[in-house]
Amino acid sequence: MGGTEGPIIAVVAERADGETRVAATPETVKKLTKLGARLRVESGAGVNASISDADYADAGAQVGEPAAIMKDADWVLGVRAPAVPDLAGAKPGAKVAAIFDPFRYRSTVDDYAAAGFEALTMDFMPRITRAQSMDVLSSQSNLAGYKAVLVAANTYGRAFPMMMTAAGTITAAKAFIMGVGVAGLQAIATARRLGAQVSATDVRSATREQIQSLGAKPIFVESVAGIEGEGSGGYATEMSDEYKKAQAELVSSHIAKQDIVITTALIPGRPAPRLISDEQIASMRPGSVIFDLAVAQGGNVEGSVPDQVVEKHGVKIVGYSNTPAHLPADASALLARNFFNFLSAFWDAEKNEVVLDEEIGDAIRLTQGGKVVNERLLG
Ligand code: NAI
Repeated sequence: MGGTEGPIIAVVAERADGETRVAATPETVKKLTKLGARLRVESGAGVNASISDADYADAGAQVGEPAAIMKDADWVLGVRAPAVPDLAGAKPGAKVAAIFDPFRYRSTVDDYAAAGFEALTMDFMPRITRAQSMDVLSSQSNLAGYKAVLVAANTYGRAFPMMMTAAGTITAAKAFIMGVGVAGLQAIATARRLGAQVSATDVRSATREQIQSLGAKPIFVESVAGIEGEGSGGYATEMSDEYKKAQAELVSSHIAKQDIVITTALIPGRPAPRLISDEQIASMRPGSVIFDLAVAQGGNVEGSVPDQVVEKHGVKIVGYSNTPAHLPADASALLARNFFNFLSAFWDAEKNEVVLDEEIGDAIRLTQGGKVVNERLLG
């Protein structure tokens, strides 16, 4: 462990409404302690994720009130970025790793710069092989895709699987997944497991095979030339007007026959693309359910409202502002491992501290030395 004492890592209790997750678990506390870090956890941080203060203490963390936790901290871990006043007592220039969601909460980034903290946003983790285990968007989207299907199934007044009973046959629900990234793939798999007949679409043509390999039917715009839909890092790009029109027509005829629609489409740094109009909702059978996973980013579905069930034309539209937070224990377990994988990958055993490399450091660093430094925010 070398001669120098390791960094103090403070784990905060989340303060945002509805945030049930926590950035470390007893498992990661143990592992970080073993690396040489000194872990501190704010009292009550794990309570919503079914982790007690005693569990953290047993794992080797010092558990206490905010002032004691933050005193001289070198690192702060949060699910969401703590407000600057909540960092009082941390070392000048302390590093804070969290999901800053910087395009949405730009003023928080500016506050960090003004206060001289180094903000590291986990949601800017580059999509490269070695960073996969640190990717919070993937770990959380996967759970969100699963939960969206369960909530849709629960909201639906009919069953998902075909059932042949003495009283007659129930037909299988038809589920349509729009956007086949990490969340969409899990939604397909979950809807299939529940017995629905599943179809799916995306703007990235690479997803066609993935949809098929999960046993679902791909629904794709074929007629518009010159579109690929894939931008940097495997993310979607904004589509042409011609493509959008062709997609809307295709989706209109398909959607009218669906019972369940799960929308997951996101474009980094932009409002979510609008995929379903009020007119299309009106074409669906009453009792159908739409889950809008993008509701917090502006929504894929016209009229969706975060954390409400909106009924339009007899169709229920659902969407949570924070879907992974509805699976707090697993969401925290995966997030905590993302944080651990990140910190341990850059652990310099000799110096007994975290030394980021350029590729990942520059991608996720938002502020340093009193300035906003991330090129995605400067550009
Ligand atoms: P995302 O959450 O940004 O978007 C969800 C899905 O919506 C994407 O598949 C996107 O193409 C699609 N979409 C956007 N606009 C649309 C529209 N108008 N109509 C229909 N669909 C639309 O994407 P996510 O889930 O983060 O994954 C994107 C890609 O990145 C995937 O290929 C995934 O496998 C890859 N990835 C790579 C990682 C790595 O190498 N470290 C880690 C995680 C994902």
